[in-house]
Amino acid sequence: MSAAPLLEVRDLYKHFVLPRSLLSRALTGQGHRVVQAVNGVSFALQQGETLGLVGESGSGKSTLGRTILRLYEPTRGEVRFDGQDVFRLDAAGLRRFRQQAQIVFQNPYASLNPRKTVRQILAVPLALRGLSRRERQEEAAALMERVGLSPQHLDRYPHQFSGGQRQRIGIARALAMHPRLIVADEPVSALDVSVQAQIINLLEDLQQELGLTYLFISHDLSVVRHLSTRVAVMYLGQIVELSPTEPLFEEPLHPYTRALLSAAPGQGRRERIILQGAPPSPLDPPPGCPFHPRCPAVVGDVCRTDRPAPVLLGEGRWVACHLYGPPA
Ligand SMILES: Nc1ncnc2c1ncn2[C@@H]1O[C@H](COP(=O)(O)OP(=O)(O)O)[C@@H](O)[C@H]1O
Ligand SMILES: [Mg+2]
Repeated sequence: MSAAPLLEVRDLYKHFVLPRSLLSRALTGQGHRVVQAVNGVSFALQQGETLGLVGESGSGKSTLGRTILRLYEPTRGEVRFDGQDVFRLDAAGLRRFRQQAQIVFQNPYASLNPRKTVRQILAVPLALRGLSRRERQEEAAALMERVGLSPQHLDRYPHQFSGGQRQRIGIARALAMHPRLIVADEPVSALDVSVQAQIINLLEDLQQELGLTYLFISHDLSVVRHLSTRVAVMYLGQIVELSPTEPLFEEPLHPYTRALLSAAPGQGRRERIILQGAPPSPLDPPPGCPFHPRCPAVVGDVCRTDRPAPVLLGEGRWVACHLYGPPA
């Protein structure tokens, strides 16, 4: 039915081993030394779609995005981009991948070198593409226009732009590589609401024009609802629900998704669900279902002992929860 996916993530893990000194400072207990930030994530992305990745702070969204781009080496698992195994690429293959898969960060100011002009910032990726000096000048001007900035401002420094304009520069820098996939990690979270809408519109226009594929990370559910074709909900390093966008917002299936949506402003008529228990720590994730210590819908011991496998409930709707089987 559908073409081969652009991106395929298979049972991906990223655990951070904490250095001893940090460990003794950060922890009162002993024996825990590994942050299980990403814990067995699988999904696929079709060319041209936007997958929204939501979840509370600390659920592993950024780590997942960065591991997919091989900015972190994985603990285990597989990522395929355009059919190629990303973690087994040789140097030339990795360079090509790094060109085709770009990241846009939350804080454009921190990610732009303050001592370089926009022209210099854009020159780096353009040079990597092998453009001549003259071509670089032309392309830099075209990129500025494409992201809604004046080419006359190419010789300004990042601090001379507003927050929204800086994010446009961050996007231009990503586009300079001619990417196919963009991981956008909270790209509008640091911006004023009015500016957020402009950047969202820009990302949508660029997707239309260039056929881009987005992994869009955000804790803002209304932004994700607006932008995404599908949504993945992360909890403690795992995807607990993955669904086409509207069905997920209309009828969330996983108890965690229900709680998350009920706590969000403007997401409908739902009764607010207050989660019990401590917020989760990826230093000491519970056995069984990661959500069971706070879950209002525990079905039995199985929740405490077995990790639920994702089951398909209707068109493209995956849920990892013992409420929904699998049938015994
Ligand atoms: N480089 C790192 N070293 C150790 N722990 C990390 C590192 N990066 C993230 N973590 C931890 O991994 C967990 C997931 O973090 P992160 O991926 O940033 O979550 P999110 O983006 O959903 O807020 C958190 O507990 C965080 O403290
Ligand atoms: Mg993050």
